[in-house]
Amino acid sequence: MKRVRDHAAPRIVLVGATGALGATVLELIGELGVRYRDIQLVASPRSAGRAAPVGGRSQTVVSLDDADFADADLVLFCTGEAVSGRWAPAAAAAGALVVDSSGAFRTDPDTPLLVPPVNGHLMERYPGGIVAGAGGLTVPLVLLLHDIERRWGVRQVVLSSYQAASGRGHQGVEELLEGSELALRDPDAELPTDCFRPAQAFNVVPAVGSLLENGSSTEEQHLVQETRRILDLPHLNVAATCVRVPVVQGHSAAVYIEAGGPVVRRDLVELLASLPRVVVHDSEPPSGPPTPLTAGDPDLIHVGRIRVTPHNPRGFWLWLVFDNLRVAALNLLQIAQTAQARPPRARTRLGESAHR
Ligand SMILES: NC(=O)c1ccc[n+]([C@@H]2O[C@H](COP(=O)([O-])OP(=O)(O)OC[C@H]3O[C@@H](n4cnc5c(N)ncnc54)[C@H](OP(=O)(O)O)[C@@H]3O)[C@@H](O)[C@H]2O)c1
Repeated sequence: MKRVRDHAAPRIVLVGATGALGATVLELIGELGVRYRDIQLVASPRSAGRAAPVGGRSQTVVSLDDADFADADLVLFCTGEAVSGRWAPAAAAAGALVVDSSGAFRTDPDTPLLVPPVNGHLMERYPGGIVAGAGGLTVPLVLLLHDIERRWGVRQVVLSSYQAASGRGHQGVEELLEGSELALRDPDAELPTDCFRPAQAFNVVPAVGSLLENGSSTEEQHLVQETRRILDLPHLNVAATCVRVPVVQGHSAAVYIEAGGPVVRRDLVELLASLPRVVVHDSEPPSGPPTPLTAGDPDLIHVGRIRVTPHNPRGFWLWLVFDNLRVAALNLLQIAQTAQARPPRARTRLGESAHR
């Protein structure tokens, strides 16, 4: 992590710095050597006064009520919808570029919803304000579909997810671990259900988010809407069943894709292996398919079990594994980077900071 005197480097405010995603963003800022002039760590009043390590130094977390957006160039919100929905507009009104990780603005037609390698060009003319980062499951899916669509076209996508407890933040992880310990000690114990209902320990629950009247879950609905929007394919036939599994970190998904024309497996493997954020696990056992425990590099999307269906050469299956926190955090930072790379005329505060 680099605090620099360079006046072109942004002043950053990270809201939700103590959460699962916020802590991962901080980790990545350090690992990638992201340059900043100043960084303020913000969380709820519960965490105010707590010390957090930043760039080898200890920094005090402040409560959102005491956050100073007035001088910020970039405000990253790693908070839930209610907090982002209320505070992100205030930060944007103060002149900062706001990158929000929640679902609060993802369906707002005036707010860009970005996965930069796919639709980062939308930032070129965006003057500033709020930008939404895509959901943790959407990011890897659209990164793959983007290139598959360009090569063969995509007619249909059917996805089943196996989502980790960390997708529900720190509390979700704590609840899974606490419930698992309790259940191991006493199979009849009453397990905590504050985050997951029914209890998640030793259980598989096909309801991520809440269930809607139409039978879908909010997570499934978001995945469909976000995928269509980011790929700019408003009528793409996408269906999903999102399932929470008792894994601490790392989402998995089985994805069936029907392309616009016949797909040769070798060409598909070659295309996937050529993508910058993708690693193909196509070797014989014992390495076998990727899993959340064994996949390796947490910043990549691990793809295995690549199968073209014998009865339909347009259809094929992929098995995906990815670190939900690292992939989402990286996407937020890529959005910030894309915003900074915009032509000066398109920028507001980020551009002005270069002349302070
Ligand atoms: N987890 C993932 O895999 C993932 C992936 C993509 C997107 N997201 C999205 O990212 C957001 C954060 O998720 P998370 O998993 O990091 O959740 P989390 O672990 O529960 O963290 C929530 C953060 O928000 C802060 N917060 C809560 N109430 C607040 C308030 N009133 N004022 C200021 N800060 C407040 C918390 O501070 P305290 O510690 O003080 O409570 C904490 O820092 C959510 O919108 C989620 O949908 C998460």
